[in-house]
Amino acid sequence: GTGAAVLLASNRGPVSYAFDAHGELTAKRGGGGLVSGLSAIGPEVDAVWVCAALSDADREAARRSGAELDPADTGGRRVHMLGIDPRTQHEAYNDIANSVLWFAHHMLWQTPLEPAFGPEFRARWASFESYNRAFAQALAAQAAEGAAVLVQDYHLVLVPGMLRALRPDLRIAHFSHTPWAPLDYYRLLPDDVAEQVLRGILGADHAGFLTRRWADAFTACADALVGGTGRTEVAVHGLGADADFLRDRAHQEDVDERIAALRREIGGEGRRTIVRVDRTELSKNIVRGLHAYRRLLTDRPDWRGQVVHLAFAYPSRQDLEVYRAYTAEVERVAQDINDEFGTADWTPVLLKVDDDFPRSLAAYRLADVALVNPIRDGMNLVAKEVPVVSDAGVALVLSREAGAYEELGADAVVVNPYDVSATAEALHTALTQDPEARSARTKRLAEAATALPPAKWFMEQLEALGGA
Ligand code: G6P
Repeated sequence: GTGAAVLLASNRGPVSYAFDAHGELTAKRGGGGLVSGLSAIGPEVDAVWVCAALSDADREAARRSGAELDPADTGGRRVHMLGIDPRTQHEAYNDIANSVLWFAHHMLWQTPLEPAFGPEFRARWASFESYNRAFAQALAAQAAEGAAVLVQDYHLVLVPGMLRALRPDLRIAHFSHTPWAPLDYYRLLPDDVAEQVLRGILGADHAGFLTRRWADAFTACADALVGGTGRTEVAVHGLGADADFLRDRAHQEDVDERIAALRREIGGEGRRTIVRVDRTELSKNIVRGLHAYRRLLTDRPDWRGQVVHLAFAYPSRQDLEVYRAYTAEVERVAQDINDEFGTADWTPVLLKVDDDFPRSLAAYRLADVALVNPIRDGMNLVAKEVPVVSDAGVALVLSREAGAYEELGADAVVVNPYDVSATAEALHTALTQDPEARSARTKRLAEAATALPPAKWFMEQLEALGGA
C-alpha cells in the first residue's frame, strides 16, 4: 500500500468493545485523559490510530475486521487494533506499565516493601519489550516515507527508539500524559531499565509533556542517567479542555434529565454540592478527599444537612488487586460517613462507582465546589472541564500536585493533597466564597482551561515535527 502520512499510537484506543447479553459485539468510547484529548482530533486529520486490543471482545473485533476497525464504530476514524497475545498484553499493561511505570511517575509505592524487583520482573519486562516491538513493527509497516508518528504515553516508551532503528526516515514524537518522576524517585527503577526507558523516548525527535515541571524532571533524569537529551527536543504542550464539545454535550436532553434526577437525590432546598469525578485511581486521592469531607462535617457542624458530596468514579484497572482494594476502601469510607452523619432526609455522600458521562456533566453543571485533590496527576482534565460547563459558577479546590495547577492555581483554592485537615478547611473556604468573586474566578478558570484545545494541542505537536 501507499502508507499513512500521520500515525498515532497508544495502548488504549478511541473505542473499546464488549459482548452484550446475546454475545454480540458492542462498541463504546474509551475513557481517560489521553483518549479525551486525542478523540477531539477530527476526521479531517487523515491519521491512522494504532492501539491495542485490551479484552477478548476487542481481540474478537480486531480479528473480524482484519485489524482495521469498522469506521461505523470509530466515528469514521481509521483505527488499527493490534491483537497482541493476551499474556504479553497483560504483563506489559498491568504488570509493567500500570504497576511499575505508573507507580514511579505518580510516586505511589508503599515503602518499605515496595518497589521490589524480584525474579518475575525480568520476564514481565521482556513482555513489555515485545509489546512495544509489536507496536513499532506495525507502525513501521504502515507509515509512508517520511511520515509523522505520534507515540503516546508510558505504555509505549520503548517504541520511538525501536521505530527509529526500523525506519530512520520517519519523524517521531513521544508524548507523556503522566507526570515525570523526580530523579531521586525515578532511579528506584533498576539501572538498566531506567536507562532503557529514557533512551526509548530519546529515539524521538520531539518529547512532549503536559507541564514545564514534568519536562524539567525528564531532562534532569536524562542528564544524570544517559548523558543528556541528545538531539531530542523536549517541549511542553498543556492539553486543555474542548469547550465547544463540552458546552454542546452538557446541554443535551440526557444531561438535563440527570440534573433533575440528581436534584431529587440531593434533596433539601438550597443544599450545596461538592463534586468530584475520577477514575477509581489511587493517584486521585479519593479516600483522603472523603476523610477531608468527614473532617468538615465534624469540625463545622453547621454544614450538616446543608451540603452533599457527589463522588463519581469510573471503574478503572480492576485487573489489579491494589485497584480493587482501593475501590473497596472508597466505598467503605463513603458508607462510614453516611452511617455516622446521615439522617432520614439527608445522605451526606452520593458515591457512584460506574461509568455515566452525561451524569458527570450534570454534576459539573450544578457543582458549587469541585474537589480535585490528586497526589500527583499529569494534568487532570476534570479541573479544566468543570469551570467550562458550570451553570452558576464553581469554586475549585485544587491540588498543587496536579499539572492543571500551573495554569489554574491562581484562581483555585490550592491544597497539599496529603493534608486532610487543610483540605477540609479549603472545602469550607470554597463553600463560603463570595458569589461575585466566584463567578469572576470561574470565568478566568474557563479561559485558562481552554487556552489549548485538543485539536490545537495535537497540531502543535505535528507542526513541531514539521507538519503532515
Ligand atoms: C491516564 C493515562 C492514559 C490512560 C488513562 C486511562 O490518563 O495517562 O494513558 O489511557 O489514564 O487508563 P487506562 O488504563 O484505562 O487506559
